[in-house]
Amino acid sequence: MNQLSINDLKNFKNEITRFMMTYKFALDAMETRVEILVQEFEMLHEYNPIEHTKSRLKSPESIFHKLNRKGGDISFTGIRDSIKDIAGMRITCSFISDIYVISNMLKNQSDLKILGEKDYIKHPKPNGYQSLHLLIEVPVHMSDRQESVCIEVQIRTIAMDFWASLEHKIYYKFNQGNQAVPGRLLDELKQAAAAAYALDLQMERLHAEIEVIKEEQSD
Ligand code: GTP
Ligand code: MG
Repeated sequence: MNQLSINDLKNFKNEITRFMMTYKFALDAMETRVEILVQEFEMLHEYNPIEHTKSRLKSPESIFHKLNRKGGDISFTGIRDSIKDIAGMRITCSFISDIYVISNMLKNQSDLKILGEKDYIKHPKPNGYQSLHLLIEVPVHMSDRQESVCIEVQIRTIAMDFWASLEHKIYYKFNQGNQAVPGRLLDELKQAAAAAYALDLQMERLHAEIEVIKEEQSD
């Protein structure tokens, strides 16, 4: 049997670090792009469409668990091909219309490639989950190579984020005990999602009305 040397182990560790770094660079690049969009938008329209952004890298452990679950090939290429959310960015917007403004601005950047889009706002999940998901390929330039790195961007309102965070907590607590969530609770979660959506629509309408009043006053 071939024995692994300390050097093999070091090389393997370096390869993992290098692999993960490309995803971190892609997130850094995307954060800068979004920051530029926001600053320019704010300058032109005197209003910021983004409440906050948050980025995260999946840990090697959780990549490993997901790969096992999905049955992907255990290699860097296999991981890259089967796990699209190693790098994730969440953009929380003020209003539903802002979600599409931001998404269209990203889609119009010629060096970004949109690999996939799921509009859970127009088509919510059966449990009520809403968000716009984009899989975006970002070019990353390194010392000796250029790579196209996929990141998952979730764009949602504060109300959608509030619902998703709490739903995750409630569901996770149940699943830790491997229990099925009771139907009554699922119904209530769905009602809560509908209430969050109603609030989003109301705030959007108020925002639009106030914009009209502001314009009339400035005429
Ligand atoms: P994954 O294999 O979990 O990544 O699912 P997928 O490839 O079908 O992707 P999808 O776009 O449906 O969801 C990806 C991510 O969206 C998840 O990792 C969560 O962050 C979020 N998400 C999707 N559905 C739900 C949901 O019902 N509740 C909450 N809280 N988050 C969700
Ligand atoms: Mg995921």
